[in-house]
Amino acid sequence: MPVDIHQEKILILDFGSQYTQLIARRVRECKVYCVIKPFNVKMEEIEQLNPKGIILSGGPSSVYDENAPYCSHQVFELGVPILGICYGMQFMAHMLGGGVKGSSRREYGQTEVRIDDFTDLFAGFDNSPHIDVWMSHGDKIQTLPPGFNAIAHSKNSPIAAIKDNNAKIFGVQFHPEVAHTPRGMEILKNFLYEVCGCLPNWTMESFINNSIIEIKKKLRGERIVCALSGGVDSSVVAALIHRAVGDQLVCIFVDNGLLRKDEAREVKRVFGGHYKINLRFIDAEDVFLEKLKGVTDPEDKRKIIGNKFICLFEEEAKKIGDVRYLAQGTLYPDVIESISFGGPSATIKSHHNVGGLPEKMNLQLIEPLRELFKDEVRLVGRELGLLEETINRQPFPGPGLAVRILGEVTKENLSILREADCIVADEIGKTEGYKEIWQSFAVLLPVKTVGVMGDERTYENVVALRVVESRDGMTADWVRLPYELLGRVSNRIINEVKGVNRVVYDISSKPPSTIEWE
Ligand code: XMP
Repeated sequence: MPVDIHQEKILILDFGSQYTQLIARRVRECKVYCVIKPFNVKMEEIEQLNPKGIILSGGPSSVYDENAPYCSHQVFELGVPILGICYGMQFMAHMLGGGVKGSSRREYGQTEVRIDDFTDLFAGFDNSPHIDVWMSHGDKIQTLPPGFNAIAHSKNSPIAAIKDNNAKIFGVQFHPEVAHTPRGMEILKNFLYEVCGCLPNWTMESFINNSIIEIKKKLRGERIVCALSGGVDSSVVAALIHRAVGDQLVCIFVDNGLLRKDEAREVKRVFGGHYKINLRFIDAEDVFLEKLKGVTDPEDKRKIIGNKFICLFEEEAKKIGDVRYLAQGTLYPDVIESISFGGPSATIKSHHNVGGLPEKMNLQLIEPLRELFKDEVRLVGRELGLLEETINRQPFPGPGLAVRILGEVTKENLSILREADCIVADEIGKTEGYKEIWQSFAVLLPVKTVGVMGDERTYENVVALRVVESRDGMTADWVRLPYELLGRVSNRIINEVKGVNRVVYDISSKPPSTIEWE
C-alpha cells in the first residue's frame, strides 16, 4: 500500500513575496508536501487542510502600510508550528504584541548573522555559529512579543531570529529559501523535521504511485484523450496516464508543419514506437500552410493556428468514439496564479492553444500535474523513463515557428529557419551551463541584406539569435554568451544555411521586449 503523500503538509501563506514559490520548492526539495494559499484564506480552509506547520512568507509591505496584508489572529491559536520569514516575522511580532519599527535604512544583501541558540531551528549550528544570510527588509523588530526570545543577531538587527517559549513559533528576518543563504536548507529542514515532525515522504516515486491510483479511480475504465505536443508537460502527462491505464489513453499529435527540425518524427518514434502509446498522428502541414498563406499579422497567425488545431483535434477525437476525458499538463504555478495574492494575471498559459478544447468538446479535465512545479515534473519524467532530450526540452510556443518567422510563413522560410535553429540548438547544447538557459532559438527576419560570398555579391536573409534566461517566462534577460560561441553559431549558420548571409544577436530584456519576436 503506497504512503498517503498528502497526509502531512505544510501550508505557506503568501504575503506577496517574490520568493513564495521558491519557499514551496525548497520545502518540496526536503520531500515534504506543501501548498500555497493567499494570506487571507478562510480559517475553515486552513482547518480543513490540517497542516503540520505553517510558513508565513515575506512580502513587500510594511506592517504599518494602509493596505498591509494581515492574516487572521486565529492562525496563531491553532497550536500548529509557525515559521515567519522577513515580513512574515515582523507581522507575527506585531500581531503577538511586539514592537516593529519602520526604518529608512534598508538592509539588503548578504549579511552575517550570529546564532545564539543551537536548538530547534538552529540545531547543528554550534559548529559554526556565524552564518551568511540574505536580508531584504526595511522594518525591524524593536521589542519582542511577550514569551519570545531572540535566537540570532546581526550587526544591524539585534533581533535577527526569534522563537516563543514553547518552541512552536519562529521568525527569521532573513530568507532561508534563497541560494544566498547557504545553510538555509538546514534551517528549513530543522523546522520541517524537528519542529513540525514531518517525514520526508513526498518523493516522485510516491507521487507516481498515488497518481496512478487516482487516475484509475477517476477513469473507471473510460477512455481519455491527450493532446501531445512533444514538450515536457504533455509528454509527462501522457507517460503517467499511460502507466496508469495503458490503452485507455489515446494521444493525438497534430503536426502543423511549424515544428522544429525532426520534432514530429521524434514524437512518432518515441511515443508511438518506444513507449507504444496509442498515438494518432495527424499530418496537417499543408492544411496549416494553406490557411497561413498571405497572413503577416502575429495575432492573426495565432488565431488561425489555434482554431485549426482545435478543429483537427476535435475531428480526430470524434473518430475514437465516446470520450469524456481530456488530459492536460496544467502545473502548480498556473493553479497558484489564478488564486494568488495579486489576483489572476496574464501569464504564459493564456497563450495555450489547447485552452478552448474542454468547453468546446464538453470534456472533463484530468490534470495529474497540477500539484507540481516544473522541476518536479522533470523528476517525474525521469522516474517514468522519458528521454533526457524530452525532459530538458525548452518551452516552445504553440504556434511554433510561425511566430519566429516575421511576415508570411512559407515552406521555404520554414526550411531556412529550421536549419538555422538546429545549429543554434546544437551549439548551445554543447555549451556548459546550457541548462540554465530558458530558451535559445533563431528568428527569421523579413529583411534582406547585401553580403559577399567568394567573389559574388549576395542579397539574402537575416537571422536573429534569441537566447534568454528566465525563471518563469514572465521576465527575462538576454544571456551574455561568450563571443567565441556567438561567432561559431554565426559562422555555421551563414556557411551551412542556404539563404542566410547575416546573423545578429538580440540584446533586449523582457520587459520591455518579449521573448518571442511576435
Ligand atoms: P513572450 O514572447 O510573451 O513569451 O515573452 C513568454 C513565453 O511564452 C511562450 N509563448 C507562447 N507559448 N503559445 C504558447 O504556447 C504562444 O502563442 C506563445 N507565445 C509565446 C514563449 O516561448 C515564452 O516561453
